[in-house]
Amino acid sequence: MDTNRLQNLKNQAISSILETKNEQELEELRIEYLGRHGQITQLLKKIPSLSPEQKKDKGNLINEIKKIIEEAIISQKKNFQQKDNQEEWFDITIPGEKPVKGHLHLITQAIEEITDIFKKIGFYRVAYPEVEWDWYAFEGLNIPKNHPARDELETFFIQNLKHPKYGEAVLTPHTSSGQLREIQRLGKLPVRMLNVAKCYRRQVDISHAPMFYQFEGLVIDQGINITHLKGTLDFFVKQYFGPQREARVRPFHFQFTEPSFEVDVSCIVCGGRGCRVCKQGWMELGGAGMVHPTVLKNGGLDPTKYTGFAFGWGVERVLMMKYKIDDIRLLFSGDLRFLEQF
Ligand code: FA5
Repeated sequence: MDTNRLQNLKNQAISSILETKNEQELEELRIEYLGRHGQITQLLKKIPSLSPEQKKDKGNLINEIKKIIEEAIISQKKNFQQKDNQEEWFDITIPGEKPVKGHLHLITQAIEEITDIFKKIGFYRVAYPEVEWDWYAFEGLNIPKNHPARDELETFFIQNLKHPKYGEAVLTPHTSSGQLREIQRLGKLPVRMLNVAKCYRRQVDISHAPMFYQFEGLVIDQGINITHLKGTLDFFVKQYFGPQREARVRPFHFQFTEPSFEVDVSCIVCGGRGCRVCKQGWMELGGAGMVHPTVLKNGGLDPTKYTGFAFGWGVERVLMMKYKIDDIRLLFSGDLRFLEQF
């Protein structure tokens, strides 16, 4: 009964236990080593016949090996039972975990929707610069230097940047600055532009953001008149807000249109009867008008031959009206609790 043989026996037993594939194989091994006639049991039986010295050393070793083999069997048994349990609980009908899916931002969705509506009636989309020369934003649109109309646009000026012909650089305060750019770019008629772009003004409150989007329509051709403008406004309002909605125009003043209007839509809350949200049944949408002869001239077009209409509204504002959102800042907050509702 030498020590090496005993160690080999232990190693052999452990590796066989680890290789078993099921509880039956494990039980066979248990019997082979620890059963009544098992190898370890036989060795234990021989201990009493050993010399007193060997009895202590070998006796301890054999008992230790027995314990190690027992523990290995118990642990392997647990492995099998765990696997069985897992297999038992695996329900293949449970739907898989879906990856979290984002969506386009609410404002981007609105821009796409607005663009699609105007495309249906022949408009094409452009996007003019966020940094603009004074001439395109003001001067060319019949808003000369020091004219009070400039005040309303509360413009951000860019220092130390000046064009020799077009003047100072500003952050585009309105998409109307795309009107002359488009006339120049196209170089022919008809113009049927939809300019959707970022605008900047020094304004912050629940309905004003320092950066916001406007969409600007411009149509120029021979024989364009107010009925074309009104028809376009009605079409948009019914498509975007729903067939029950109506548009109305009210006299107003813009330097670059004559006549000029403010456009209202019948209130989506009360349906036009008059409520807390609206002004006697109407909600303000934005500006519009017939292109001013001076603007046509500045674009190189003969105002005695050609006429046009233009309108410019805030993307966030139409969106807020449609979904009854009462604070523009929510749209720019990036708050998922808000955005995930759309
Ligand atoms: C203009 O900007 C004119 N250029 C519109 C126009 C175009 C008139 C073509 C005639 C012909 P106004 O300053 O009213 O007009 O702005 C138009 C719309 O932009 C407003 O009705 C509003 O919807 C939106 N808007 C203006 N300022 C802000 C702001 N700070 N934050 C969010 N939306 C704004």
